[in-house]
Amino acid sequence: MSIKKISINKDIETAKTLPSYYYQDEKYFDLSINKIFKPSWQIISNLKQIDNTIYPFIFLKDSINEPLILTNTNKKIRCLSNVCTHRGNILCTKKNNKNSIVCKYHGRTFNLKGNILSYPGFKKTKYFPTKSDDLVKLKTQNWKNFIFISLQPKIDITNILDDIESRLGWFPFKNLRYNSLDSCEYTLDAHWSLYCENYLEGFHVPFVHKGLNKDINLNTYKTILLKNGVLQYTESKSKKDKLNIKKGFTDYKKNIYAYYYWIFPNIMLNFYKWGLSINIIEPINKNKTRIKFLSYPIQDYKQPTNTESSLDKVEKEDQNIVINVQKGIKSKLYNRGKYSPEYEMGVHYFHRLICKHLN
Ligand code: FES
Ligand SMILES: [Fe+2]
Repeated sequence: MSIKKISINKDIETAKTLPSYYYQDEKYFDLSINKIFKPSWQIISNLKQIDNTIYPFIFLKDSINEPLILTNTNKKIRCLSNVCTHRGNILCTKKNNKNSIVCKYHGRTFNLKGNILSYPGFKKTKYFPTKSDDLVKLKTQNWKNFIFISLQPKIDITNILDDIESRLGWFPFKNLRYNSLDSCEYTLDAHWSLYCENYLEGFHVPFVHKGLNKDINLNTYKTILLKNGVLQYTESKSKKDKLNIKKGFTDYKKNIYAYYYWIFPNIMLNFYKWGLSINIIEPINKNKTRIKFLSYPIQDYKQPTNTESSLDKVEKEDQNIVINVQKGIKSKLYNRGKYSPEYEMGVHYFHRLICKHLN
């Protein structure tokens, strides 16, 4: 596969953005699935939502499509391949509460750690069973009860999680309750990178989000680059929607409206006074992206809806502009632009990370 190497100048003042062929050429899409999403960490679920012992799922449906299982033994979560080590049958299709995993093809059985337990018809097989007859186990991270999984963990996200701990150590993670009514999934007719780059700058707020712009103090907007992540935050105009930051933490006394953390390539953790919202951006193809929007209000709080600045409204505004950019990027007359060094450090860093992984 011959593919033109893309590079983005380190110096934001002279650099140019990703060329439009990056968004349109299938080869770059496939390469980013392989080189960016395979080594990435993905949030699969929250421990409180896994009330079964066996929980099958597809890792990055429509792009990587890896069939996996989470097993839950007394709150110890493991991630196993959902493919039988005999001839490749898919083991589980539905969540259930069994204590073992039985293959419906020829009856091979595994325990919830993935170890092979029984195997009809294999008495005469030599050098069997070995480690490779157990189910493949994947690395998991349990962060504040959110379960992260990676197929080939190479993207280090500890710096981001540490930063969250240092600023939000006071945040009542234990009291978050998943709210399915305020959570949803959208399919967006746009490249996944366009959604992420829109998230990575507050530059568009006064133009795209007139309602939100009334609530926040845009001249306090900050962008902080972390290793494989970006933090953005802004102060609120009124005290009523500020985060209740506890004494001793950074930004105590400031009217912080929200902390917006992005984890490369596609996870967004947004901390508000009312709780946490998570956006997971899943590539479907180069023109289609799934946005999973998960709402975790703090107990006794509710995610605001139907106001001028509420997330449902802001999200719609973002999606409309991203769809418009997707159309524009296909123009024969457009190739690439330049960055605003004051406002687009996050976008520049994102583009640099993409190039680093693709090359
Ligand atoms: S494929 Fe599972 S036992 Fe044969
Ligand atoms: Fe926006």
